[in-house]
Amino acid sequence: MTEHALFGEGFAADPYPAYAWLRENAPVRREVLPSGVAAWLVTRYADARRALADPRLSKNPGRHRAADHASGRVGIPGERGANVMTHLLNIDPPDHTRLRRLVSTAFTPRGVAAFEPRVRALADRLADGFAGRGSADLIDEFAFPLPIYAICDMLGVPPEDQDDFRDWAGMMLHTSGKRGGVGRAVKRMRGYLGELIHRKRGALGDDLISGLIRASDHGEHLTEEEAAAMAFILLFAGFETTVNLIGNGMLALLRDPAQLARLRRASAEGEGSLLDSAVEELLRYDGPVELATWRFATEPLTLGGQRVAPGDPVLVVLAAADRDPERFADPDTLDLGRGDNPHLGFGHGIHYCLGAPLARIEGRAALETLLRRLPDVRLAADPRALRWRGGLIMRGLRSLPVEFTPEG
Ligand code: HEM
Repeated sequence: MTEHALFGEGFAADPYPAYAWLRENAPVRREVLPSGVAAWLVTRYADARRALADPRLSKNPGRHRAADHASGRVGIPGERGANVMTHLLNIDPPDHTRLRRLVSTAFTPRGVAAFEPRVRALADRLADGFAGRGSADLIDEFAFPLPIYAICDMLGVPPEDQDDFRDWAGMMLHTSGKRGGVGRAVKRMRGYLGELIHRKRGALGDDLISGLIRASDHGEHLTEEEAAAMAFILLFAGFETTVNLIGNGMLALLRDPAQLARLRRASAEGEGSLLDSAVEELLRYDGPVELATWRFATEPLTLGGQRVAPGDPVLVVLAAADRDPERFADPDTLDLGRGDNPHLGFGHGIHYCLGAPLARIEGRAALETLLRRLPDVRLAADPRALRWRGGLIMRGLRSLPVEFTPEG
């Protein structure tokens, strides 16, 4: 097999041949990224899992050899200059342990489960928008608004302000690649959340922001600044990821009519277990998070036979690890009923996705609603002509045109 170009043309549409090449030929390899930063890419499942849980790999961008966090070259998009804040994805224990424990008291799996009927109602309301029509863009009209309204609702953003979030989130999504737009959107969201926290302090409710304000741990409270950063990271980490779970997932199904029919049958018969395993398989097969967020070596270490120096950035390629034939049988085949599926789509170790219970609920509700409301949904474009948004960390469609028989 010859070397496949990383990050080149066609890469975002199908990165898997390049990842297969790396996995086989250079499983831990130093690459210069499009941003100019050099980082180690880890592509085998066993190495990836180990790296995600390795305490010698710090999440603190201040550990980067070039320390260019403030320039926005490492860290999450939109964090730059005054926008840099402290949150779960850029800190290590013991601060990470404290903040994660505090937020976990507000964001419990039980609380999230109680939210499921609201997510389903929201999905149905969005599907009402397809009434009387025979075509739609599933990204713009469904996958994009669903998570933003769901998280706003959960955080306790008043309904009259939620469309502002839709606009800011749109700025983040549509300007990705152009830092200015993302930075402005981050700044506005953050400013709004800071004010909302301030207002809610006087009248706590049963929403997540009130829970964050209430959260205390051995007398230790979240500061207002920490609560705002936490609310922001919940929105940020839970928005584009879920858009892509629905978008990439629906595309995979639409391209595989046998699996789609299987899921539609099971869903119509109320067989929830196939829906559950389908969400896991779609996360593995073409998950939203292509690379886990940045990690930086704090001491010399060996990864997959390579010597990594202190300060070196390490990026774990979840999408490559989840197609590793050493771990998954027939990794390039979509099998919605796959039993043995310990995918890394939500990460692994202490930074394992906090929002996984919510993401699973949203994924289930989206698939179930779309299959029920659009029983003969089909792709309305040549899959090769679809346009992708390939940021460094996430990968998803810009649009997903579909056709169906109008509901009558
Ligand atoms: C962390 C994936 C949805 C909140 C992560 C990580 C991954 C991930 C891979 C680990 C990153 C790393 O180790 O570098 C996903 C996927 C989602 C999703 C695929 C949707 C399908 C959500 C949602 C929320 C959320 C809905 C919240 C509402 C978080 C937070 C972290 C995180 C706060 C940081 C946890 C920590 O550092 O302790 N997610 N996520 N995610 N996710 Fe998600």
